Amino acid sequence: MLEAINETTSFIRSQTNLQPEIAIILGTGLGKIADEIRAEKVIPYEKIPNFPVSTVEGHDGKLIIGTYAGKDVIVLKGRFHFYEGYTMEEVTFPIRVLKFLGIKNLFISNAAGGMNPDFEVGDVMFINDHINLMPNPLIGKHFPEFGDRFPDMSEVYNRKLVRKALESSTRQQLRAHKGCYVGVTGPTLETPKEYEYFRIIGGDAVGMSTVPEAIIAHQMGMTIFAVSVITDLGVPGRIEKISHEIVQQAAEKVAPKLVKVISEIVAGL
Ligand code: HPA
Repeated sequence: MLEAINETTSFIRSQTNLQPEIAIILGTGLGKIADEIRAEKVIPYEKIPNFPVSTVEGHDGKLIIGTYAGKDVIVLKGRFHFYEGYTMEEVTFPIRVLKFLGIKNLFISNAAGGMNPDFEVGDVMFINDHINLMPNPLIGKHFPEFGDRFPDMSEVYNRKLVRKALESSTRQQLRAHKGCYVGVTGPTLETPKEYEYFRIIGGDAVGMSTVPEAIIAHQMGMTIFAVSVITDLGVPGRIEKISHEIVQQAAEKVAPKLVKVISEIVAGL
């Protein structure tokens, strides 16, 4: 695995003179944020050695290197989900590469269902904790280069950035919360009782990504900021039939305001 990471890292380095320390992963419906990046180099995932290829609609996979809010950044437009059949090693491979490229701050975004009864569709939730209900991505051979075998998980998501994001959201008049993200494999959405169960165990929102990426990034010592766009509700009495298209459209609606919040935080790093 180390060899593959080194090969991919060297390839990406050879494509740019920029030395970004910030990376942003764009989730479902949030791809438009990429339009705000002054791109210096765009590399489709299929051109990157050892990268898996994204298969879901609404995630056209490319790595963008450029500048955003006055900072050099790498943007991953499109991610790899466990439900697509990738192994956890494949799902998190790009995160390892980001670290080897020198990334210190990782921004993660996703679309999620909200269990917290105070949430509305179109709100955002800055993640301050998670509950992992997927296979742990650290299961398997350990390489000391990656960090601890038994990583401490008491603060995975940077508290200061959550606070800043909440302040920035108030300025943007964006309805925002902080809360706990429950990571599930999907691809089924939840039954009403599953939503209820996730609420009882302490979850505020549920989705099918982010947690494996955050675990790897945290093990490797990155500062993490993650945001969920609430695209549907798993609140008793307010559950409606949903589809991937509805999730995508709801996320797209929030993207313009969320872009401003993210750019304020990036500018302040
Ligand atoms: N459940 C799981 N994943 C999701 C949801 C949901 O309700 N909405 C968007 N992604």
